[in-house]
Amino acid sequence: MAAGDSFYIATPIFYVNDVPHIGHAYTEVAADVLARWHRQSGDDTWLLTGTDEHGQKILRTAVANDTTPQEWADKLVNESWLPLLETINIANDDFIRTTDERHESAVRIFLQKLYDDGFIYSGEYEGYYCVGCEEYKQLDDLMESAVGDYAGQLVCKIHTRPVEVLKEKNYFFRMSDFQQRLLDLYESQRDFIQPDSVRNEIIQFVKSGLQDLSISRSSFDWGIKVPWDDDHVVYVWFEALLNYITAIGYGTDDENFARRWPANQLVGKDIARFHAVIWPAMLMAANLDVPRRVFGHGWLLVGGEKMSKSKLTGIAPSQITDTFGVDAFRYYFLSAINFGQDGSFSWEDLAARYQSELANGFGNLASRVIAMVNRYFDGAVPSPASYTEADLAIRDVVLAATRNADAAMERFAIHEAIASIWTIVDELNGYITIQEPWALSKDAAQRERLGTVLYTAAEGLRALAVLLSPFIPESTEKLWGALGATEALGALVNQSIPEAGNWGQLPPASRVSTIDALFPRIESPEPSIA
Ligand code: MSP
Repeated sequence: MAAGDSFYIATPIFYVNDVPHIGHAYTEVAADVLARWHRQSGDDTWLLTGTDEHGQKILRTAVANDTTPQEWADKLVNESWLPLLETINIANDDFIRTTDERHESAVRIFLQKLYDDGFIYSGEYEGYYCVGCEEYKQLDDLMESAVGDYAGQLVCKIHTRPVEVLKEKNYFFRMSDFQQRLLDLYESQRDFIQPDSVRNEIIQFVKSGLQDLSISRSSFDWGIKVPWDDDHVVYVWFEALLNYITAIGYGTDDENFARRWPANQLVGKDIARFHAVIWPAMLMAANLDVPRRVFGHGWLLVGGEKMSKSKLTGIAPSQITDTFGVDAFRYYFLSAINFGQDGSFSWEDLAARYQSELANGFGNLASRVIAMVNRYFDGAVPSPASYTEADLAIRDVVLAATRNADAAMERFAIHEAIASIWTIVDELNGYITIQEPWALSKDAAQRERLGTVLYTAAEGLRALAVLLSPFIPESTEKLWGALGATEALGALVNQSIPEAGNWGQLPPASRVSTIDALFPRIESPEPSIA
């Protein structure tokens, strides 16, 4: 991308039937890291997230809790979903709720247009529906439950709960008209769906034939009314998908819409079909551009299964952040799991990586270098004298890491970007071990050499702070302050990532301060799980 390009990234909007778990937080953090990276690359960046509040699932949860769906949604948004963004340090630009008036009115505009243009007709729907998925099901999606409360019944393969049989007069969207155009899209825009595993599955699904989609419900009224028929509310997925455009001014603010759209969409692979089939077909019908890309990330697994609240395997993000801190949370899930693949969560793995990578690898490096500048140079970053090959090798590693990380982030290969940046941590640690500044400090004749070594190390930390700031914003901010970089170079969030690899930006004589351990030792890593 060229600097200044538009980069609009959106997470799915989350159901408010329950509180967030770390699977939801994972999508949020990945989107936030990509957004922060692009902001610091000078792109015109916009990060959207929000909540999905209509439909039967929310209605039933509210009724079960003796309240109205609106009150339930307000409570969950204010007490759980907005606080989640604080807990994991998400710098979103907007938060859309599907009960916002801006969303509801723009949905009506979109629907009326499709109706007027002949893409919607009325018909009879007869089939299965899973309220957990809020999705119409084909027989392939179901299985007969062998054991337990539902033995002998047809259950949804995802929720393992019985599906409902629907027979309703509904409005239908002519999705089948778009089968070939969708297949052409997947061919011509090769990275439209990522990763390839998800792409292949979607292509197979579309090739096997698309049916028209029922887009309204008349048996309950918690939703957006169909503009031309008050007896129907819009099918929850059909309106929820529209949040990506209603939030940026579709139908009301053409200028902003043109500035932002199309979006990069991060979704869990379980909902890739909605985003890579239904959503682009809807956009094609409305004559709008399809998304820039749809990336289906993997699942966090617990005991080999997708973590989920309904199966009681959900872990609250605060259970991790309270012990390890927010940066460790952000770093761990994005570095330990290949983005696009499933990953198993375990407290042991988290604790081990915290200790070896964050505390011993990065945190220690920062503390040692700053302590040595304090001890040997009274807190003033020394000037480099002539560079040796070892010093120049560090410079080269920093440059290569910056380029490689940027190329990886362009492909949403977030784990590869972290691995590239971590080459700087590893190389610098090795460099310090070999250069032995503590030994140089004992020989007055080596004063210049000591200065060069510590300048090289401090300048490497400067680059690391910039490159890692999208991932671990809190600790890099501390490091930035301790390096005395703010005065000379300005705020960390304003540092250019593409230029982070240019050597020699930290001015000699910058005043370092002391720094507490960025990742302190944790006594008892595994909190008791309620
Ligand atoms: N409301 C719909 C999305 C509508 S978008 C127009 C929905 N909501 S959800 O709350 O159930 O899920 C939101 C996101 O969380 C999905 O991307 C889903 O994949 C993700 N995750 C839920 N559990 C997850 C894991 N265990 N692991 C990783 N991501 C998971 O679907």
